[in-house]
Amino acid sequence: MKKIIILSIAIGILSLASFAAPKFKKMRKFPPNDDIEKKIDSLLALMTLEEKVGQMVQYNGFWDVTGPSPKGGNAEKKYEHLRKGWVGSMLTVRGTEEVRAVQKIVTEESRLGIPLIIGFDVIHGYKTLSPIPLAEAASWDLEAIKKSAEVAAAEAAASGINWTFAPMVDISRDPRWGRVMEGAGEDPYLGSKIAKARVTGFQGNDLSNPLTVAACAKHFAGYGFAEAGREYNKADIGTVTLHNMVLPPFKASAEAGARTFMTGFNELNGIPVTGNDYLLRDILKKEWGFDGFVISDWASIEEMLTWGYTKDRASTAVRAAEAGVDMDMEGNIYMEELANMVRTGKVKEEIVDEAVRRILRVKFELGLFEDPYKYCDPEREKEVIGNPEHIEAVKDMAKKSIVLLKNENNLLPLKKKEQTIALIGPLADENNSPLGSWRLGSDDSTGVSLKTGLEKYSNNKIEYTQGVKLITNQAEFTKELHINTTDTSGFEEAKEVAKNADVVIMALGEHGFLSGEGRSRTKLDLPGLQQELLEEVYKVNKNVVLVLQNGRPLTINWAEKNIPAIVEAWQLGSQSGNAIAEVLYGDYNPSGKLPMTFPRSVGQIPIYYNHKRTGRPVDPAPGEEQVFWSHYIDEENAPLYPFGFGLSYTEFAYKNLQLAKKEIKKNETLKLSVEVSNTGNYDGREVVQLYIRDLYGSIIRPVKELKGFELIPLKKGETKTVTFELGPKELGFYNEQGNYLVEPGEFQVFIGGSSETSLEDSFFMVE
Ligand code: BGC
Repeated sequence: MKKIIILSIAIGILSLASFAAPKFKKMRKFPPNDDIEKKIDSLLALMTLEEKVGQMVQYNGFWDVTGPSPKGGNAEKKYEHLRKGWVGSMLTVRGTEEVRAVQKIVTEESRLGIPLIIGFDVIHGYKTLSPIPLAEAASWDLEAIKKSAEVAAAEAAASGINWTFAPMVDISRDPRWGRVMEGAGEDPYLGSKIAKARVTGFQGNDLSNPLTVAACAKHFAGYGFAEAGREYNKADIGTVTLHNMVLPPFKASAEAGARTFMTGFNELNGIPVTGNDYLLRDILKKEWGFDGFVISDWASIEEMLTWGYTKDRASTAVRAAEAGVDMDMEGNIYMEELANMVRTGKVKEEIVDEAVRRILRVKFELGLFEDPYKYCDPEREKEVIGNPEHIEAVKDMAKKSIVLLKNENNLLPLKKKEQTIALIGPLADENNSPLGSWRLGSDDSTGVSLKTGLEKYSNNKIEYTQGVKLITNQAEFTKELHINTTDTSGFEEAKEVAKNADVVIMALGEHGFLSGEGRSRTKLDLPGLQQELLEEVYKVNKNVVLVLQNGRPLTINWAEKNIPAIVEAWQLGSQSGNAIAEVLYGDYNPSGKLPMTFPRSVGQIPIYYNHKRTGRPVDPAPGEEQVFWSHYIDEENAPLYPFGFGLSYTEFAYKNLQLAKKEIKKNETLKLSVEVSNTGNYDGREVVQLYIRDLYGSIIRPVKELKGFELIPLKKGETKTVTFELGPKELGFYNEQGNYLVEPGEFQVFIGGSSETSLEDSFFMVE
């Protein structure tokens, strides 16, 4: 028996001899019919321990940093490790030349020539930028979102990249947290649909297609629940919230075939997620059968030490590897500690082998072993990047992401002729801020500003003044608000310009860099002097359209009360100004719906629509003195704008909610339908939303949960019947052990154009 084993190993090694030589060209001689697992077996058999650990190492390139900078000039060390084949991946290396350069070193100079997988944060586009992900989520348009990911993938892949650190699928209920701009908002159902759209958009159906990239669902898991919305903070949540709210979009990503997952910086209930066997091994790798690989976040392995979870670097490396982190992002801890830990028996070599197998698997799937330079064609790079089709796609996405929050007296759409429009605000002539955060691959100041968009759009007279200044000076920029807090000298001119205008457009909000990683806020008002400016201008002209550009929900109570028209225009990417102009002039009728609740006050946070009811939910009758119910004494419970809310220039009416049955069995599916009519004066698109409420259960269920939606175009005067189905997948929930239960009982259903819809009915589920 022993002999047979030795013999087969020898045969394996012999058959590999042809590609064991250092050069990439020889690597191609994998037996053509062998499947990927066999190829991995043969390669693993040739690798030294250092080479294996090396595959688990990701280094940042020598150019951009997205985390704390590596100390000192360590480029030489990185080059040396590349030459030795001790590096499996690099991040933020981009452009066909840069990528070719590093790929050449590993494939031609290292012993086995294993190509690198090249990762990059392609978050909302590469060069041609889409809206920030939160804005895209507001479109509820899964096809458009998928298309946007396809565009991003094509441009990134043409520029040498084969792996994006996206989608970020962290559910968050806390707009103080700057990274809400990167996700799909607060709802796990919508978040799961969008996760799937993004993963399939990035990866297509064939990873070896040179216009696709591997996706990475991040940050696994719970990062969006950072306490107090403070970046990198702990996240204490119960298992019910974990399973029902946090994990679904990750599960959807795994089911959609996301080839990689990233852990987060956070701990979850006392255990850093980067060292969390339950999440990584039990749920992701076992229960969900995920066979791609897991990368840490930037130095998050090392940070387990800082958290006080591990005692030294060596045991930290062991902890992460055992928990199931396959690759160490720029932490150097696997590189420095792991091989030694294997040698001294502190961690089994099989753990390393398994991690390497996962990494090599994705590299094979990408086709990197056939041609490590397949993403490095400068001709394709020129053709693909900035392609007119891409510009059209991101503009389309941008229009669809806009949410109309208020439109009193039909102030919008604007008249196209003979109007004098005052355009005021620090973000009006901005071509950098609309690009938003996370756009490393694109060039600064390449967005279309609102001013440019409006000027191109009609012959109306545009009178522009900034009102308050934007701070672009780098030194002052770090003060974070980016908008002047002291200088009111522009107010008079703003009022002068506003006074004589037919309509005033106020372009206010947050600079694009005010949200994103490391940008938590304690206040959610308009930063700097913008609120004062708005109030001053309103004094001289009431016809104000507030165009908000921001990366998170804001508390704009005064504006909601006073300003007749409010347009949520987020940070819309390269085509921002063109898209907003088209919507303001009514050539695109806004159809976006909020993917995240807008609070009235920071004190209400966390505020979200799918909350539980409490034992004292009753709002007393007006005038009745009541203290002992779940409320605030200085603010309403209700949000400023609820989840799912968004207006249109037309009106939609809902009627005839029909349930096929009033009683279903546990495994049955209930069919529902509703009639939706466009009763206004414009063609439009409506997001028809279906919510349920499970009235009682072994675990208290939320007051409402989104369980279906459909985006339908409706012409003026048109009526359509929209149908939905509710089955065990929609009607069950996870209990505190993470088991999925479908419990008989009574359910309410609600259908309409927001989470505060009033059309409702109910049915029973029986055993
Ligand atoms: C972020 C990740 C990102 C990584 C690489 C980290 O700081 O948390 O989301 O992918 O940097 O840039």
